[in-house]
Amino acid sequence: AQVNITHDNSRVNAVLPSGESIEVLLHGATVTSWKDRAGNERLWLSDAAKLDGSKAVRGGIPLVFPVFGTAPDHEPTSKLPQHGFARNSRWDFLGKSTTESSGQTDASVKLDFGLSTATINDEAKKLWPFSFSLIYSVTLTPDALRTGIVITNDGDQPFEFQTLLHTYFRIGDITKVSVSGLEEAAYVDKVDGAKEKQQAGDVTIAGEVDRVYHPANPSTPVVISEGGESKFSIVRETLSDVVVWNPWIEKAQGMGDFEPKDGYKNMICVEAGSVKGFTKLEAGDAYSGEQVITV
Ligand code: BG6
Repeated sequence: AQVNITHDNSRVNAVLPSGESIEVLLHGATVTSWKDRAGNERLWLSDAAKLDGSKAVRGGIPLVFPVFGTAPDHEPTSKLPQHGFARNSRWDFLGKSTTESSGQTDASVKLDFGLSTATINDEAKKLWPFSFSLIYSVTLTPDALRTGIVITNDGDQPFEFQTLLHTYFRIGDITKVSVSGLEEAAYVDKVDGAKEKQQAGDVTIAGEVDRVYHPANPSTPVVISEGGESKFSIVRETLSDVVVWNPWIEKAQGMGDFEPKDGYKNMICVEAGSVKGFTKLEAGDAYSGEQVITV
């Protein structure tokens, strides 16, 4: 058996011989689906998510670049829409590579996507007039999903950026979820006046949560557990910050593309990124960061 890859104008699908699958929308290079071999979805995707390119996708893994949130006080990114233009741009599918295996149980597939100054629209170019290219690689193995970004400065002046892999994890019951690996980490609490705080113990969710963590040890895996059982383990390379977000009742009500309205009970965003301040990339230099999500 081989890896089965299909693609059309709007998306790429890949199914491993062992049954796991992914779907990536060219709009935003957004991973919109990651299923286990039994067909169970591992990512949360809103029933009202716009998949036609008219809006960033509510769910899956939107990619944030070159600004996290908005940065009205940071001149070079001040005009950009929330979370930048990458999640709202049409990416190119650059190609695939597969590793087959004799035992058919550990075949994997890597899909590559590209976005650059040459392919973004004029509107985005005007808002952020730097010369760049992005390569985004999505790798599926039977027990893991790896998503990595390489950012290159193709221009002749430095630029500054933030980036983040905005993963919406599907969970059964938010009240039973705990997130470990952030113990003792300093964080900015976006629902409490951006106060600086320190995490004590696991993160649990009992209301709106929107926090930017800066763990002291970036190599500690961040683990999402439900009912005491580990569901996802996230290991990061270079991406030193972790955002934890759940909109809870009112924020979910306020988002037109968030359905069902009680869907906040079935999702948690744990987002690996580089969002504390800005990263400066000199002309000709490249930056790479990735997350590996293991189940
Ligand atoms: C999170 C931010 O990463 O994304 C939140 O920390 C924000 O503040 C959330 O609300 C969703 O953003 P958006 O633009 O997709 O609605």
